[in-house]
Amino acid sequence: MKRLLIAATLITPFITTLAHAGDDAMLGEARKVASELPPKLLAVLKGEIEKSGPEGAIPVCKDMAPKMGGEVFKQTGWKIKRVSLKVRNEARAIPDDWEKAALEDFDKRAAAGESPAQLEKGETIGNEYRYVKALPVQALCLNCHGPVDQISPAVKSVLDQHYPNDRATGYSVGQIRGAISVRKPL
Ligand code: HEC
Repeated sequence: MKRLLIAATLITPFITTLAHAGDDAMLGEARKVASELPPKLLAVLKGEIEKSGPEGAIPVCKDMAPKMGGEVFKQTGWKIKRVSLKVRNEARAIPDDWEKAALEDFDKRAAAGESPAQLEKGETIGNEYRYVKALPVQALCLNCHGPVDQISPAVKSVLDQHYPNDRATGYSVGQIRGAISVRKPL
């Protein structure tokens, strides 16, 4: 019995370390996958806004973002989406309970002074690894997510047409617009 106890005491930390090593590897992968898309999207958005105005750039957020997400899944096996507590696209971006809790926690931590760009959460849930990373509002985002009275009539009319229940306006720089959410079976 005593020997068994000693064995258990020796083995438990070892197993815990192994589990953590697995989690750390998944965290690294998830972070990489989730961090690559936003700057790419931002670059295309910037270019398109310069070329054809913010109303002309709407398809970048509407069609190109999910398409790029699909490509990431094909290449990496990580499912990737965007979620928000105040959604624009109800069909795509409503968070599940785990994502909602993370987003609420991000808002609290940002309000307490943490940098929104650093906010992330990764966790093994059942047989998959899940990770969310906050998407802070930058000046450029205000073209389409800022206070309604500051959004151009052209943008407003396209948004009204596609998103009659749009809740994703009224933001200011530094707030959290939502998160990139990625998941992969273990
Ligand atoms: C040119 C207009 C435009 C700009 C600029 C823009 N967005 Fe969006 N955004 C949209 C549209 C349109 C959607 C809805 C996409 C869809 O149908 O899935 C959207 C959706 C999102 C979503 C998904 C959640 C939801 O509410 O549907 C997030 C997160 C988001 N935007 C973050 C940002 C951030 C962060 C920036 C700045 C870096 C930004 N957006 C800039 C138009 C824009």
